[in-house]
Amino acid sequence: VRRPRSSPQAPDPAEVRPRLLAWYRQRRRDLPWRRTRDPYAIWISEAMLQQTRVETVVGYWERFLARFPTVEALAAAAEDDVLAAWSGLGYYRRARALRAAAQAMVERHAGRFPDELEAARALPGVGPYTAGAVLSIAFDRPAALVDGNVVRVFARWLGCDLEYAAATRWAWARAEELVPRDGGAGEWNQALMELGATVCTPREPRCAECPLQDVCVARAEGRQLELPRAKPRKSRVDVELEALFVARGAEVLLERRPSGGRMADLWQLPTLQLSPEPERASLFPPRYTLASLAADDEPLAVLRHSITHHRIVLRVHRAHPPAEKRIEPLAWIPRTRLGALALGGMARKALRALSSHQ
Ligand code: ADE
Ligand code: SF4
Repeated sequence: VRRPRSSPQAPDPAEVRPRLLAWYRQRRRDLPWRRTRDPYAIWISEAMLQQTRVETVVGYWERFLARFPTVEALAAAAEDDVLAAWSGLGYYRRARALRAAAQAMVERHAGRFPDELEAARALPGVGPYTAGAVLSIAFDRPAALVDGNVVRVFARWLGCDLEYAAATRWAWARAEELVPRDGGAGEWNQALMELGATVCTPREPRCAECPLQDVCVARAEGRQLELPRAKPRKSRVDVELEALFVARGAEVLLERRPSGGRMADLWQLPTLQLSPEPERASLFPPRYTLASLAADDEPLAVLRHSITHHRIVLRVHRAHPPAEKRIEPLAWIPRTRLGALALGGMARKALRALSSHQ
């Protein structure tokens, strides 16, 4: 472990804790999941927050809890309904894991989120971050956590210039050292994340507003933007897709994605991947062609969408309803059902753009 290159009189990080906590009590955002102590509700918020911005999560979280208010309700739900409530958040494996974890809680923990780290970690989809978050925030257990915000705050504050994966392991060690053992772990963890989310932001840290400004190594050295070191990025893949818009009265023709693989079982417009060669990028595996549907050359709509490192351009062409009776994996879906359907984010975007077309 690399030592921070701070001056010898730099205070012990533990002595700085009260400042960050005082800042958090004063400045924390009033978020709906901060008004509950229900471990289930907190767990759902943390699962959503791992991949999505707070502003987006608020609405999803409220709808999800209205729909599945308890562990039992989620455990008993149909998978499609859970996917529909998750639709647009991406990383759909996580939504499936939530339901599986709820079922495990009903079977093994009397329908409650377990308050022991090991039991929590044994649940589907519950990794070290989520376990630390729920245990500390909902149960006030002295559980540490690290997310991207925490890596950034520690790396800057304490001056760590290890490469990103190593910085993350280093941050876990700092988190374990600094998490309060005698109460307040939930507040401490949230204070760290909140500082990273609102002040110590990736590109424009507001050091002048930061409670750590006079002890921060990165600030003293003017290296805020260099720390933590950048994650190695997957190089961008440009994906060109062609989709069909086939309407018949109040219904549209949709395709269900295969089970297994990306966005498994979600619905989308019938889609064909033009480039790169579908064998090389499995985002949209080739399944069939609707060449027989005589699509218009001129697209009805052109959409741009990103999924992780894939940059997608989707051209939607109008096509005529197929004559065949057997059209699986396609199905006619009434437009009134689209809101409750397990659609992928891109499909939702496309259908919204096409909502005025007959
Ligand atoms: N990011 C994810 N969970 C958070 C929380 N509980 N507080 C602040 N930022 C977060
Ligand atoms: Fe981040 Fe600046 Fe605060 Fe350091 S002083 S922790 S770089 S916001």
